[in-house]
Amino acid sequence: MAFSGTERRRAEEIVARYPQSRSATLPLLFMVQDRDGWVTPQGIEDVAEFLGLTPAVVLGTCSFYTMFKLSPVGRLVVSVCTNVSCLVNGGPQLHEHLRREYARSDDVFIEEVECLAACDRAPALQINYDFHGPLTGEQAVDLIERHRSGELTARTISGTATGGEV
Ligand code: FES
Repeated sequence: MAFSGTERRRAEEIVARYPQSRSATLPLLFMVQDRDGWVTPQGIEDVAEFLGLTPAVVLGTCSFYTMFKLSPVGRLVVSVCTNVSCLVNGGPQLHEHLRREYARSDDVFIEEVECLAACDRAPALQINYDFHGPLTGEQAVDLIERHRSGELTARTISGTATGGEV
C-alpha cells in the first residue's frame, strides 16, 4: 500500500514547504499515525517510499520522538507529567492512579512524561496534547471519561484537530 491519491496530494503540499523533501519526515509520520492510529511498519514504508529514503532512516527518526507511537495506543493518549513541579504536587500519584484505572483499557493509553512546560498547572497532564491541570485523580478520570463518551472532543493522537500534519 502506498499513499492514496488524497494522501499523495497532501504529502506533496507538505513537502513543498521545505527546501529538502526529507525535512517533511515528521509531518508525514504524523499523517500516517493519524491514518492508522499508530505508526505501523506500512506507515514507515509509505513515508520512506514517498521521500526516497530507506525505511531504516525513517524508523530511526521516528523512534527518537516519543510523540510517535510504534504500537497501538488507542484513541486517547494521556501524558502525565512527573517532573519537578508536578513531582511535589502529586504528579506521580496522579500517574499511578490513572495507570491502574486504565490498565485494561484498549482506548486510553497512560504515559509518564517529562516537563510539559505547564508547571503552573501542576500536576499537569495532556489528553491528545491538550493541556489540563491541576487535577486530582478523580477529576482526571472524569475528564477522560467525558472525552471517551464524546461529550468532549479530543484532538487526534498526533495533536491535530481532524487528522493530518501538525
Ligand atoms: S514539571 Fe510538570 S509541567 Fe513542568
